[in-house]
Amino acid sequence: MEISTPENISNLSKSEKYAILHDFWKGLSDPEVDWIANFGNATSLMKEIFNWWWVGFYRVSGNQLILGPFQGPTACTKILYGKGVCGKTWEFEKTILVPNVHDFEGHIACSSASNSEIVIPIWKNGSIWGVLDVDSEHFDQFDEVDQINLELLCEKLSLLI
Ligand code: SME
Repeated sequence: MEISTPENISNLSKSEKYAILHDFWKGLSDPEVDWIANFGNATSLMKEIFNWWWVGFYRVSGNQLILGPFQGPTACTKILYGKGVCGKTWEFEKTILVPNVHDFEGHIACSSASNSEIVIPIWKNGSIWGVLDVDSEHFDQFDEVDQINLELLCEKLSLLI
């Protein structure tokens, strides 16, 4: 599925971009296929609309998070419980916004170009199944609008696991 007006997307407000994201996701999500297919498409859609530096998923496996579908530069494949922003999101069971990753103790720098980050937990059957991780090369890129909309997207995604 191609987004109809990609050349104009960069001029839209953040809320308008999220409206497009949710609208496209309605047509794109496919309950007949597995989570990898759906989560892969979700990362592609987010990259298309927001052009974030890195966007992707980590899923819980034992005491660590394992890299899932993503868009952007290569990333670390394993993150231990409680480590980095992703591991802390798992531990605290809530979204973490990081305006400046260099000020976050224990931040794991998969890419030196990343300057701000948001990580959202994904729930399944009452426990954390994994996280959505978004990195920006700009400082202070994520706010309440991102949190509300990405948490909503993660709720929709958890229905496809
Ligand atoms: N920065 C993350 C690691 C994952 S990469 O950014 C893709 C963290 O501190 O958990």
